[in-house]
Amino acid sequence: MRELSHLFANNRSWASQILAEDPEFFQKLSQQQAPQYFWIGCSDSRVPANQITGLLPGEMFVHRNVANVIPPTDLNCLSALQFAVDVLKVRHVIVCGHYGCGGVRAVLRNQQFGLVDTWLEHVQRVARKHATQLDGLDNEIERFDRLCELNVIEQVVSACQTDSVQHAWQRGQRLAVHGWIYAVNDGLLRDLGLCVTRPEELEPAFQEAIQGVR
Ligand code: CO
Repeated sequence: MRELSHLFANNRSWASQILAEDPEFFQKLSQQQAPQYFWIGCSDSRVPANQITGLLPGEMFVHRNVANVIPPTDLNCLSALQFAVDVLKVRHVIVCGHYGCGGVRAVLRNQQFGLVDTWLEHVQRVARKHATQLDGLDNEIERFDRLCELNVIEQVVSACQTDSVQHAWQRGQRLAVHGWIYAVNDGLLRDLGLCVTRPEELEPAFQEAIQGVR
């Protein structure tokens, strides 16, 4: 018996549903991809990029990692970003975090899980940078929510500072970098009010987002 046969059954039924709407769908898609959006989100199983935005295969280029970070040293994330911007010429880079993020919680509570602790240093840095704001909040729930948001804001900055995004703007390519957050408890996306379309917009947009009242 084939392993995980229910997943193959799901897949066949999904493919036939798509074909019922558009018999040429996969044939057309096999020729090329031309997505407008590049999504950088958390690996969390509750935050499936295409499903929560109602997009079909071919419409969004996706990179996910634990706690949706864009480390300036991570070849994996930076390569995906470079390909999306330079080759696919996406119009939007969406950095999307989520409330209830296990990676962010681990940082807040100083939990140890092994190798992933090293990866979460990137979030630790955000927590240290904004310690004053976080310490000023009333309780752990508020600190948790806010660190999830601050992490998105800092990762938007990180994305904007990459060579890929900087060079795209220098050559006049239309490209916006957005900061969003998703709530797993109501299925809704929220815009953190951070949208950068030119280098000079970064600093004021960042300051506003950092001071932003939730
Ligand atoms: Co997460």
